[in-house]
Amino acid sequence: MIELPKKTIRDIDVSGKKVLVRVDFNVPLDIERNVVDDTRIRGALPTIRYLLDNGARPILMSHLGRPKGQVVESLRMAPVGRRLAELLDRPVLSLKECIGPRVKEAVEENPDKVILLENLRFYPGERENLADFAKQLAELADIYVNDAFGTSHRAHASTVGVTVFLPSVMGLLMEKELETLGGLLESPERPFVVVLGGNKVSDKLGVIDSFLEIADTILTGGGMCFTVISSMGLPIGDSVVEEDQIKQISSVMKKARRKGVKVVVPMDFVVADRFDKDANFRTVPTESIPDGWLGLDIGPATIQKYCEILSEAKTIFWNGPMGVFEWPSFENGTRGIADCIALADATTVVGGGDSDAALRQFGLEDDMDFVSTGGGAAMRLLEGKKLPAVEALTDR
Ligand code: 3PG
Repeated sequence: MIELPKKTIRDIDVSGKKVLVRVDFNVPLDIERNVVDDTRIRGALPTIRYLLDNGARPILMSHLGRPKGQVVESLRMAPVGRRLAELLDRPVLSLKECIGPRVKEAVEENPDKVILLENLRFYPGERENLADFAKQLAELADIYVNDAFGTSHRAHASTVGVTVFLPSVMGLLMEKELETLGGLLESPERPFVVVLGGNKVSDKLGVIDSFLEIADTILTGGGMCFTVISSMGLPIGDSVVEEDQIKQISSVMKKARRKGVKVVVPMDFVVADRFDKDANFRTVPTESIPDGWLGLDIGPATIQKYCEILSEAKTIFWNGPMGVFEWPSFENGTRGIADCIALADATTVVGGGDSDAALRQFGLEDDMDFVSTGGGAAMRLLEGKKLPAVEALTDR
């Protein structure tokens, strides 16, 4: 377990205090504005319950979508508040503003209710990190808690600005995310196997560079691996490729050899004659992807080989699907790898992006030790970079 240098809610007395809690309730809504995936809301429950159990009054705040400093009716927080009330099994009062006299009044008049402020990004001061907006948020409470790991890479008024005005500590979800993801880079039990997929290799170069310092094996899949394969001089047909990254990838592969880290590419693919869920498809070896065809999933021989490597691992980190798992003809690779990770006798950590959507599709999310609630934030942390919202918290 790594030692975090910042204070958590367990380090302070919250009893009788009004506590302003930044959560990341940026969740998908359907057309009727029902919450489609409540993972992030569930993630914040331990902190909210801890505060309630210890006599504090939580005032929650979050952004939802990117309304760019204006009120957008479809991005109001009320549906999120309704879902939170169901999960908490107690009333949640969703307000239509974040700051000002009406908000202060509502806080004073409803000491028994969990309060949820309106979408922070309805105010330009949020993204611009304006001191005046941050100060007005801070005036609502005695203590600030940041539990919004998914937004910790953003230096906004509710994540950084507010810490100037209040004692500022992290919540239990933030603590768990930092310990688990940070722990991967510090002391993973070996062998440490990293599985990277998803579409763009350019998004992954920073994490690959980090993992070259600590992982034993990196298994690649998804669209991103065609840039790696292309850098080896093999034909990739019409598969997705980032030509401008090929030089970069060649030097990453050189570094991997120098460091003794195995970077593995698939040995076969399911290729399709067009990018369409009903396309014709067949399985081919990696070196024989025909012209005019494109790889949309890893093949069965690759699944088997990757599963053998995963079964030996003691720590596994997975980010990014192996293929177009949303389409039944191309879901086997992602499903197969997710199954093997679920079965592995290892600590298993899944980091954001589409891999958690894939886990939900296959009903496997409870079979992982930890599924991060952060996409961009998780990647930034794993690149070894600082998270401004964490840096801003009070030192231990
Ligand atoms: C996310 O969904 O990744 C976080 O909530 C951050 O959202 P943003 O990319 O709009 O800042």
